[in-house]
Amino acid sequence: MKWTPSLATGHATIDGQHRELFQCLADLEQAAAENSTMFAAYTLTRLKHYVRDHFADEEAVLRATDYPGLEAHIAEHQRFRAQLSELQVQSVNTDITPEMQAFLVDWLVNHIARVDLDYVPYLKQK
Ligand SMILES: [Fe+2]
Repeated sequence: MKWTPSLATGHATIDGQHRELFQCLADLEQAAAENSTMFAAYTLTRLKHYVRDHFADEEAVLRATDYPGLEAHIAEHQRFRAQLSELQVQSVNTDITPEMQAFLVDWLVNHIARVDLDYVPYLKQK
């Protein structure tokens, strides 16, 4: 699970944060592979905080552009934040399951690789 330059938005802060999110996902995979419940719970908390900060920063950057997909993009962030909170509550009672892990990886990779790249032309207008 690695960030690659093909995923670059060209915005240094956003790209740095996306790389960090990929690192969180790699840590989560490692925790699952090692059956490390504590590390998984810690990584999930770290991911949740990191996602919250990253989404806020990304939304602030997009608000400063004329990106027409802004509201839909924010709505996607909002849905994911809620799903992530729900997963964290579930993970208190059960270990992080392969399904939970697959959901997080699929959502973030798809979002960064597809949804985020949609706003790149609007960043370049600035
Ligand atoms: Fe986004």
